[in-house]
Amino acid sequence: MSKRLVITGSQWGDEGKGKITDFFACKASMVVRYQGGNNAGHSVMFDGKKFSLQSIPSGIFNPATVNVMANGMVINPASLVGELEKLHREGVTDYQLYISDRAAMVMPWHADLDGAAEQLKGDTKIGTTKKGIGPAYCDKYSRSGLRMGDLLEPEYFAKRLREALELKNRELKSFGLPTYRFEDVFDQYMGYAETLGYRICDTYELINDALREKESKILFEGAQGMMLCIDHGTYPYVTSSTPSASSVPVGAGISPKWVENVVGVAKAYCTRVGEGPFPTEFFGDTADGIRQRGHEYGTVTGRPRRIGWFDAVVARYTARLAGIDYWAIMLLDVLSGMDKVYICTAYECDGEILTSPPSTISRLERCKPVLEEIDGWKEDISGITEYDKLPEGARNYLQRIEELTEVPVGVVSVGPDRIQTILRAEELIKF
Ligand code: IMP
Repeated sequence: MSKRLVITGSQWGDEGKGKITDFFACKASMVVRYQGGNNAGHSVMFDGKKFSLQSIPSGIFNPATVNVMANGMVINPASLVGELEKLHREGVTDYQLYISDRAAMVMPWHADLDGAAEQLKGDTKIGTTKKGIGPAYCDKYSRSGLRMGDLLEPEYFAKRLREALELKNRELKSFGLPTYRFEDVFDQYMGYAETLGYRICDTYELINDALREKESKILFEGAQGMMLCIDHGTYPYVTSSTPSASSVPVGAGISPKWVENVVGVAKAYCTRVGEGPFPTEFFGDTADGIRQRGHEYGTVTGRPRRIGWFDAVVARYTARLAGIDYWAIMLLDVLSGMDKVYICTAYECDGEILTSPPSTISRLERCKPVLEEIDGWKEDISGITEYDKLPEGARNYLQRIEELTEVPVGVVSVGPDRIQTILRAEELIKF
Protein backbone atom coordinates (compact mmCIF):
# COMPACT_ATOMS: atom_id res chain seq x y z
CA MET A 1 0.00 0.00 0.00
CA SER A 2 1.12 3.54 -0.67
CA LYS A 3 2.59 5.81 1.98
CA ARG A 4 0.75 9.06 2.60
CA LEU A 5 1.58 12.35 4.29
CA VAL A 6 -0.64 15.37 4.75
CA ILE A 7 0.96 18.74 5.33
CA THR A 8 -1.31 21.34 6.81
CA GLY A 9 -0.66 24.83 8.14
CA SER A 10 -1.81 25.12 11.72
CA GLN A 11 -1.62 28.82 12.46
CA TRP A 12 -2.59 31.75 10.19
CA GLY A 13 -0.70 30.65 7.07
CA ASP A 14 2.90 31.36 6.08
CA GLU A 15 4.18 28.69 8.46
CA GLY A 16 6.78 27.44 5.97
CA LYS A 17 4.73 24.66 4.42
CA GLY A 18 6.49 25.15 1.09
CA LYS A 19 9.86 24.26 2.55
CA ILE A 20 8.60 21.16 4.36
CA THR A 21 6.56 20.00 1.41
CA ASP A 22 9.57 20.45 -0.84
CA PHE A 23 11.70 18.54 1.68
CA PHE A 24 9.36 15.53 1.50
CA ALA A 25 8.58 16.06 -2.19
CA CYS A 26 12.17 15.03 -2.95
CA LYS A 27 11.08 11.54 -1.98
CA ALA A 28 7.40 11.71 -3.01
CA SER A 29 6.08 10.20 -6.19
CA MET A 30 3.05 12.53 -6.12
CA VAL A 31 2.21 15.92 -4.56
CA VAL A 32 -1.45 16.98 -4.49
CA ARG A 33 -2.68 20.53 -3.69
CA TYR A 34 -6.23 20.16 -2.38
CA GLN A 35 -7.59 23.67 -1.64
CA GLY A 36 -7.03 27.40 -2.07
CA GLY A 37 -5.56 29.13 -5.06
CA ASN A 38 -2.98 31.76 -5.89
CA ASN A 39 -3.64 33.52 -2.59
CA ALA A 40 -0.97 31.19 -1.17
CA GLY A 41 2.70 32.02 -1.35
CA HIS A 42 5.14 29.21 -0.77
CA SER A 43 8.85 29.89 -0.64
CA VAL A 44 11.20 27.05 -1.39
CA MET A 45 14.97 27.31 -1.15
CA PHE A 46 17.63 24.85 -2.26
CA ASP A 47 21.07 24.89 -3.88
CA GLY A 48 21.30 28.53 -2.77
CA LYS A 49 18.33 29.58 -4.93
CA LYS A 50 14.94 30.82 -3.75
CA PHE A 51 11.72 30.09 -5.61
CA SER A 52 8.23 31.22 -4.81
CA LEU A 53 5.07 29.34 -5.74
CA GLN A 54 1.46 30.45 -5.55
CA SER A 55 -0.79 27.74 -6.89
CA ILE A 56 1.66 25.15 -8.22
CA PRO A 57 2.38 22.19 -5.89
CA SER A 58 5.79 22.19 -4.20
CA GLY A 59 6.85 18.95 -5.88
CA ILE A 60 7.41 20.85 -9.14
CA PHE A 61 11.19 20.94 -8.67
CA ASN A 62 11.54 17.17 -8.77
CA PRO A 63 11.14 15.86 -12.35
CA ALA A 64 10.11 12.43 -11.05
CA THR A 65 7.21 13.77 -8.96
CA VAL A 66 3.69 13.92 -10.36
CA ASN A 67 2.10 17.21 -9.26
CA VAL A 68 -1.66 17.53 -9.10
CA MET A 69 -3.77 20.66 -8.72
CA ALA A 70 -6.86 18.93 -7.42
CA ASN A 71 -10.59 19.64 -7.61
CA GLY A 72 -10.74 21.49 -4.27
CA MET A 73 -8.63 24.34 -5.62
CA VAL A 74 -9.72 27.56 -7.31
CA ILE A 75 -7.39 28.05 -10.24
CA ASN A 76 -6.62 31.29 -12.01
CA PRO A 77 -5.36 30.30 -15.47
CA ALA A 78 -3.79 33.72 -16.12
CA SER A 79 -1.75 33.56 -12.97
CA LEU A 80 -0.90 29.88 -13.49
CA VAL A 81 0.47 30.62 -16.96
CA GLY A 82 2.54 33.45 -15.44
CA GLU A 83 3.80 31.21 -12.66
CA LEU A 84 4.89 28.55 -15.16
CA GLU A 85 6.62 31.13 -17.36
CA LYS A 86 8.53 32.43 -14.35
CA LEU A 87 9.65 28.90 -13.42
CA HIS A 88 10.83 28.38 -17.00
CA ARG A 89 12.88 31.58 -16.84
CA GLU A 90 14.43 30.27 -13.61
CA GLY A 91 15.43 27.07 -15.37
CA VAL A 92 12.68 24.79 -14.01
CA THR A 93 11.49 23.13 -17.21
CA ASP A 94 11.38 19.42 -16.46
CA TYR A 95 8.29 18.63 -14.40
CA GLN A 96 4.95 16.81 -14.38
CA LEU A 97 1.82 18.84 -13.69
CA TYR A 98 -1.84 17.81 -13.95
CA ILE A 99 -4.86 20.04 -13.36
CA SER A 100 -8.23 18.69 -12.25
CA ASP A 101 -11.02 19.36 -14.73
CA ARG A 102 -13.33 19.71 -11.70
CA ALA A 103 -11.34 22.56 -10.11
CA ALA A 104 -13.18 25.90 -9.95
CA MET A 105 -11.83 28.54 -12.32
CA VAL A 106 -11.04 32.09 -11.27
CA MET A 107 -12.46 34.59 -13.76
CA PRO A 108 -11.30 38.21 -14.23
CA TRP A 109 -14.28 39.68 -12.38
CA HIS A 110 -13.53 37.73 -9.22
CA ALA A 111 -10.59 39.96 -8.33
CA ASP A 112 -12.63 43.09 -9.18
CA LEU A 113 -15.45 42.00 -6.86
CA ASP A 114 -13.00 40.97 -4.12
CA GLY A 115 -11.44 44.46 -4.20
CA ALA A 116 -14.82 46.21 -4.36
CA ALA A 117 -16.23 44.26 -1.40
CA GLU A 118 -13.13 45.05 0.65
CA GLN A 119 -13.40 48.74 -0.19
CA LEU A 120 -17.06 48.78 0.75
CA LYS A 121 -16.30 47.19 4.11
CA GLY A 122 -13.86 49.99 4.95
CA ASP A 123 -12.59 49.56 8.51
CA THR A 124 -14.05 46.08 8.79
CA LYS A 125 -12.26 44.80 5.68
CA ILE A 126 -10.86 41.27 5.82
CA GLY A 127 -7.52 42.21 4.31
CA THR A 128 -7.80 39.62 1.54
CA THR A 129 -5.08 39.04 -1.03
CA LYS A 130 -7.53 40.53 -3.60
CA LYS A 131 -6.96 37.56 -5.88
CA GLY A 132 -10.68 36.87 -6.12
CA ILE A 133 -10.54 33.70 -4.04
CA GLY A 134 -13.69 34.39 -1.99
CA PRO A 135 -15.84 35.36 -5.01
CA ALA A 136 -14.58 32.31 -6.94
CA TYR A 137 -15.55 29.93 -4.12
CA CYS A 138 -18.90 31.77 -3.79
CA ASP A 139 -19.64 31.08 -7.46
CA LYS A 140 -18.63 27.45 -7.03
CA TYR A 141 -21.08 26.98 -4.19
CA SER A 142 -23.84 29.01 -5.83
CA ARG A 143 -23.36 26.71 -8.85
CA SER A 144 -22.74 29.55 -11.25
CA GLY A 145 -18.98 29.12 -11.55
CA LEU A 146 -16.93 27.78 -14.43
CA ARG A 147 -14.52 24.87 -14.04
CA MET A 148 -11.11 24.17 -15.53
CA GLY A 149 -12.55 21.29 -17.60
CA ASP A 150 -14.89 23.75 -19.35
CA LEU A 151 -11.84 25.08 -21.21
CA LEU A 152 -11.64 21.78 -23.08
CA GLU A 153 -15.13 22.17 -24.55
CA PRO A 154 -15.40 25.57 -26.23
CA GLU A 155 -19.14 25.36 -26.91
CA TYR A 156 -20.00 24.44 -23.37
CA PHE A 157 -17.54 27.04 -22.08
CA ALA A 158 -19.27 29.68 -24.23
CA LYS A 159 -22.68 28.74 -22.81
CA ARG A 160 -21.49 28.85 -19.21
CA LEU A 161 -19.61 32.09 -19.84
CA ARG A 162 -22.74 33.80 -21.25
CA GLU A 163 -24.74 32.69 -18.21
CA ALA A 164 -22.04 33.88 -15.82
CA LEU A 165 -21.68 37.25 -17.53
CA GLU A 166 -25.43 37.80 -17.34
CA LEU A 167 -25.14 37.69 -13.55
CA LYS A 168 -21.68 39.12 -13.02
CA ASN A 169 -22.03 42.18 -15.23
CA ARG A 170 -25.08 43.20 -13.18
CA GLU A 171 -23.07 42.76 -10.02
CA LEU A 172 -20.11 44.72 -11.43
CA LYS A 173 -22.44 47.53 -12.50
CA SER A 174 -23.90 47.74 -9.01
CA PHE A 175 -20.41 48.55 -7.75
CA GLY A 176 -19.85 51.03 -10.60
CA LEU A 177 -17.15 48.75 -12.05
CA PRO A 178 -16.44 48.15 -15.77
CA THR A 179 -18.27 45.16 -17.23
CA TYR A 180 -16.85 42.37 -19.45
CA ARG A 181 -17.58 41.58 -23.11
CA PHE A 182 -18.23 37.95 -23.95
CA GLU A 183 -15.84 37.94 -26.95
CA ASP A 184 -12.91 39.33 -24.94
CA VAL A 185 -13.18 36.82 -22.12
CA PHE A 186 -13.86 33.96 -24.52
CA ASP A 187 -10.74 34.71 -26.59
CA GLN A 188 -8.60 35.25 -23.51
CA TYR A 189 -9.64 31.93 -21.93
CA MET A 190 -9.35 29.98 -25.18
CA GLY A 191 -5.74 31.22 -25.18
CA TYR A 192 -5.27 29.62 -21.74
CA ALA A 193 -6.90 26.46 -23.07
CA GLU A 194 -4.17 26.26 -25.71
CA THR A 195 -1.39 26.65 -23.14
CA LEU A 196 -2.83 24.59 -20.30
CA GLY A 197 -5.35 22.30 -22.00
CA TYR A 198 -3.12 19.22 -22.28
CA ARG A 199 -2.55 19.29 -18.52
CA ILE A 200 -6.27 19.35 -17.65
CA CYS A 201 -7.77 15.92 -16.94
CA ASP A 202 -9.91 13.93 -14.53
CA THR A 203 -7.39 13.57 -11.71
CA TYR A 204 -9.64 11.15 -9.81
CA GLU A 205 -8.08 8.09 -11.43
CA LEU A 206 -4.56 9.44 -11.30
CA ILE A 207 -4.72 9.92 -7.52
CA ASN A 208 -6.80 6.87 -6.65
CA ASP A 209 -4.64 4.54 -8.72
CA ALA A 210 -1.52 5.95 -7.10
CA LEU A 211 -3.00 5.36 -3.63
CA ARG A 212 -3.28 1.66 -4.42
CA GLU A 213 0.27 1.27 -5.65
CA LYS A 214 2.65 -0.25 -3.16
CA GLU A 215 5.62 1.90 -4.05
CA SER A 216 3.91 5.28 -4.23
CA LYS A 217 4.49 8.05 -1.71
CA ILE A 218 1.83 10.71 -1.84
CA LEU A 219 1.97 14.12 -0.24
CA PHE A 220 -1.19 16.17 0.21
CA GLU A 221 -0.23 19.81 0.39
CA GLY A 222 -2.47 22.33 2.10
CA ALA A 223 -2.32 26.09 1.67
CA GLN A 224 -2.97 28.83 4.25
CA GLY A 225 -3.41 27.77 7.88
CA MET A 226 -6.20 26.31 9.93
CA MET A 227 -6.97 29.53 11.78
CA LEU A 228 -7.97 30.84 8.33
CA CYS A 229 -10.39 27.91 7.86
CA ILE A 230 -13.83 29.01 6.70
CA ASP A 231 -15.48 26.79 9.36
CA HIS A 232 -13.08 26.68 12.27
CA GLY A 233 -10.95 29.80 11.86
CA THR A 234 -11.38 33.35 13.07
CA TYR A 235 -14.48 33.97 10.93
CA PRO A 236 -15.03 36.29 9.07
CA TYR A 237 -11.28 37.03 8.99
CA VAL A 238 -10.56 33.80 7.17
CA THR A 239 -10.05 32.48 3.67
CA SER A 240 -12.86 30.74 1.79
CA SER A 241 -11.69 27.12 2.03
CA THR A 242 -10.66 24.55 4.64
CA PRO A 243 -6.89 24.14 4.91
CA SER A 244 -7.24 21.26 7.39
CA ALA A 245 -6.45 17.62 6.63
CA SER A 246 -10.21 17.12 6.90
CA SER A 247 -10.63 18.67 3.48
CA VAL A 248 -8.16 16.30 1.76
CA PRO A 249 -10.79 13.64 0.95
CA VAL A 250 -13.22 16.05 -0.72
CA GLY A 251 -10.57 18.35 -2.18
CA ALA A 252 -8.60 15.53 -3.77
CA GLY A 253 -11.44 13.05 -4.41
CA ILE A 254 -10.34 10.21 -2.14
CA SER A 255 -11.77 8.29 0.79
CA PRO A 256 -11.03 9.67 4.30
CA LYS A 257 -9.61 6.24 5.09
CA TRP A 258 -6.48 7.11 3.12
CA VAL A 259 -5.59 10.06 5.34
CA GLU A 260 -2.66 9.29 7.64
CA ASN A 261 0.48 10.92 8.97
CA VAL A 262 -0.73 14.46 9.28
CA VAL A 263 2.08 16.94 9.79
CA GLY A 264 0.98 20.24 11.29
CA VAL A 265 3.33 23.00 10.26
CA ALA A 266 3.76 25.72 12.88
CA LYS A 267 6.27 28.48 13.29
CA ALA A 268 8.19 28.64 16.57
CA TYR A 269 6.28 31.91 17.04
CA CYS A 270 3.15 33.18 15.26
CA THR A 271 2.51 35.56 12.39
CA ARG A 272 -0.58 36.85 10.69
CA VAL A 273 -1.22 39.01 7.61
CA GLY A 274 -4.46 40.83 7.09
CA GLU A 275 -6.95 41.89 9.71
CA GLY A 276 -8.57 39.96 12.54
CA PRO A 277 -7.89 39.09 16.18
CA PHE A 278 -4.46 37.73 17.04
CA PRO A 279 -4.32 37.13 20.82
CA THR A 280 -0.54 36.72 21.24
CA GLU A 281 0.40 39.68 19.03
CA PHE A 282 3.06 41.99 20.41
CA PHE A 283 4.92 45.06 19.18
CA GLY A 284 8.19 46.88 19.70
CA ASP A 285 11.87 46.00 19.22
CA THR A 286 11.50 42.29 19.98
CA ALA A 287 8.71 41.93 17.42
CA ASP A 288 10.66 43.99 14.87
CA GLY A 289 13.73 41.82 15.45
CA ILE A 290 11.75 38.64 14.78
CA ARG A 291 10.20 40.23 11.68
CA GLN A 292 13.65 41.12 10.33
CA ARG A 293 15.34 37.82 11.17
CA GLY A 294 12.39 35.76 9.93
CA HIS A 295 11.88 37.92 6.77
CA GLU A 296 8.26 38.22 7.79
CA TYR A 297 6.83 39.99 4.77
CA GLY A 298 4.04 38.48 2.63
CA THR A 299 5.22 36.44 -0.39
CA VAL A 300 2.12 37.43 -2.37
CA THR A 301 1.43 40.97 -1.19
CA GLY A 302 4.72 42.06 0.43
CA ARG A 303 2.81 43.24 3.52
CA PRO A 304 4.76 43.18 6.84
CA ARG A 305 3.41 40.31 8.92
CA ARG A 306 2.09 40.82 12.42
CA ILE A 307 4.15 39.00 15.08
CA GLY A 308 2.94 37.01 18.11
CA TRP A 309 4.28 34.47 20.62
CA PHE A 310 3.67 30.75 20.05
CA ASP A 311 0.01 30.14 20.79
CA ALA A 312 -0.46 26.68 22.31
CA VAL A 313 -4.22 27.29 22.59
CA VAL A 314 -4.40 27.56 18.82
CA ALA A 315 -1.92 24.72 18.30
CA ARG A 316 -3.88 22.29 20.49
CA TYR A 317 -7.13 23.30 18.76
CA THR A 318 -5.77 22.83 15.24
CA ALA A 319 -4.04 19.59 16.27
CA ARG A 320 -7.36 18.14 17.35
CA LEU A 321 -9.30 19.46 14.36
CA ALA A 322 -6.86 18.11 11.78
CA GLY A 323 -5.71 15.00 13.66
CA ILE A 324 -2.12 16.21 13.65
CA ASP A 325 0.33 13.36 14.30
CA TYR A 326 3.53 15.42 14.35
CA TRP A 327 4.55 19.03 14.48
CA ALA A 328 6.98 20.51 12.03
CA ILE A 329 8.28 23.48 14.01
CA MET A 330 9.64 26.07 11.61
CA LEU A 331 12.05 29.00 11.96
CA LEU A 332 13.30 27.94 15.38
CA ASP A 333 16.62 29.66 14.54
CA VAL A 334 14.83 33.03 14.46
CA LEU A 335 14.33 32.82 18.26
CA SER A 336 18.05 32.17 18.94
CA GLY A 337 19.82 34.85 20.95
CA MET A 338 16.80 35.89 23.00
CA ASP A 339 17.02 35.91 26.82
CA LYS A 340 13.43 34.79 27.26
CA VAL A 341 10.81 33.29 24.99
CA TYR A 342 7.10 32.95 25.72
CA ILE A 343 4.33 30.45 25.03
CA CYS A 344 0.65 31.21 25.41
CA THR A 345 -0.86 28.41 27.51
CA ALA A 346 -4.44 29.69 27.84
CA TYR A 347 -6.60 32.77 27.24
CA GLU A 348 -8.17 34.90 29.89
CA CYS A 349 -11.54 36.25 28.78
CA ASP A 350 -14.14 38.08 30.87
CA GLY A 351 -12.65 36.57 34.04
CA GLU A 352 -12.66 33.03 32.63
CA ILE A 353 -9.70 30.88 31.62
CA LEU A 354 -10.13 29.33 28.17
CA THR A 355 -8.14 26.44 26.75
CA SER A 356 -9.58 26.62 23.24
CA PRO A 357 -10.30 29.67 21.08
CA PRO A 358 -13.83 31.06 21.45
CA SER A 359 -15.96 30.78 18.33
CA THR A 360 -16.96 34.43 18.09
CA ILE A 361 -14.66 37.19 17.01
CA SER A 362 -15.99 39.59 19.63
CA ARG A 363 -14.98 37.19 22.42
CA LEU A 364 -11.66 36.37 20.79
CA GLU A 365 -10.92 40.08 20.59
CA ARG A 366 -11.32 40.30 24.37
CA CYS A 367 -8.96 37.37 25.02
CA LYS A 368 -5.68 38.11 26.78
CA PRO A 369 -2.89 35.56 26.47
CA VAL A 370 -1.68 33.76 29.59
CA LEU A 371 2.05 33.65 28.86
CA GLU A 372 4.61 31.24 30.24
CA GLU A 373 8.19 32.47 30.31
CA ILE A 374 10.93 30.10 29.22
CA ASP A 375 14.71 30.69 29.23
CA GLY A 376 15.97 31.23 25.71
CA TRP A 377 19.20 30.03 24.10
CA LYS A 378 22.13 32.00 22.76
CA GLU A 379 23.70 29.51 20.37
CA ASP A 380 23.40 29.69 16.59
CA ILE A 381 21.43 26.56 15.73
CA SER A 382 21.29 26.98 11.96
CA GLY A 383 23.91 24.28 11.29
CA ILE A 384 22.52 21.65 13.69
CA THR A 385 21.30 18.45 12.03
CA GLU A 386 20.41 16.27 15.04
CA TYR A 387 17.65 16.92 17.55
CA ASP A 388 19.76 15.95 20.56
CA LYS A 389 22.43 18.48 19.59
CA LEU A 390 20.01 21.41 19.95
CA PRO A 391 20.82 23.62 22.97
CA GLU A 392 18.99 22.76 26.17
CA GLY A 393 16.87 25.94 26.00
CA ALA A 394 15.61 25.06 22.54
CA ARG A 395 14.82 21.47 23.55
CA ASN A 396 12.95 22.70 26.63
CA TYR A 397 10.95 25.05 24.46
CA LEU A 398 9.98 22.27 22.04
CA GLN A 399 9.19 19.91 24.90
CA ARG A 400 6.81 22.47 26.38
CA ILE A 401 5.04 22.73 23.01
CA GLU A 402 4.69 18.94 22.97
CA GLU A 403 3.29 18.85 26.52
CA LEU A 404 0.79 21.63 25.95
CA THR A 405 -0.48 20.30 22.61
CA GLU A 406 -0.12 16.57 23.24
CA VAL A 407 1.58 16.18 19.86
CA PRO A 408 5.24 15.21 19.37
CA VAL A 409 7.65 17.37 17.41
CA GLY A 410 8.64 15.35 14.34
CA VAL A 411 10.53 17.95 12.33
CA VAL A 412 12.46 21.07 13.27
CA SER A 413 13.54 23.66 10.73
CA VAL A 414 16.61 25.73 11.62
CA GLY A 415 17.04 27.71 8.41
CA PRO A 416 15.51 28.29 4.99
CA ASP A 417 17.53 25.70 3.07
CA ARG A 418 16.35 22.14 2.47
CA ILE A 419 19.37 20.80 4.36
CA GLN A 420 18.62 22.89 7.46
CA THR A 421 15.96 20.43 8.54
CA ILE A 422 16.09 18.08 11.53
CA LEU A 423 13.99 14.98 11.02
CA ARG A 424 13.13 13.25 14.26
CA ALA A 425 9.99 11.13 13.80
CA GLU A 426 10.50 7.53 12.76
CA GLU A 427 7.38 7.45 10.55
CA LEU A 428 8.48 10.52 8.64
CA ILE A 429 12.02 9.25 8.16
CA LYS A 430 10.49 6.21 6.46
CA PHE A 431 8.49 8.31 4.00
P1 IMP B 1 -8.21 35.55 0.72
O1 IMP B 1 -7.78 34.14 0.86
O2 IMP B 1 -7.43 36.31 -0.33
O3 IMP B 1 -9.69 35.71 0.56
O4 IMP B 1 -7.85 36.33 2.09
C1 IMP B 1 -8.51 36.05 3.30
C2 IMP B 1 -7.56 36.08 4.49
O5 IMP B 1 -6.65 34.99 4.37
C3 IMP B 1 -6.69 37.34 4.56
O6 IMP B 1 -6.46 37.65 5.92
C4 IMP B 1 -5.39 36.92 3.89
O7 IMP B 1 -4.30 37.68 4.33
C5 IMP B 1 -5.31 35.48 4.39
N1 IMP B 1 -4.51 34.61 3.51
C6 IMP B 1 -4.88 34.08 2.35
N2 IMP B 1 -3.90 33.30 1.85
C7 IMP B 1 -2.90 33.34 2.73
C8 IMP B 1 -1.63 32.70 2.80
O8 IMP B 1 -1.21 31.93 1.94
N3 IMP B 1 -0.88 33.00 3.90
C9 IMP B 1 -1.33 33.80 4.89
N4 IMP B 1 -2.51 34.40 4.87
C10 IMP B 1 -3.30 34.17 3.81
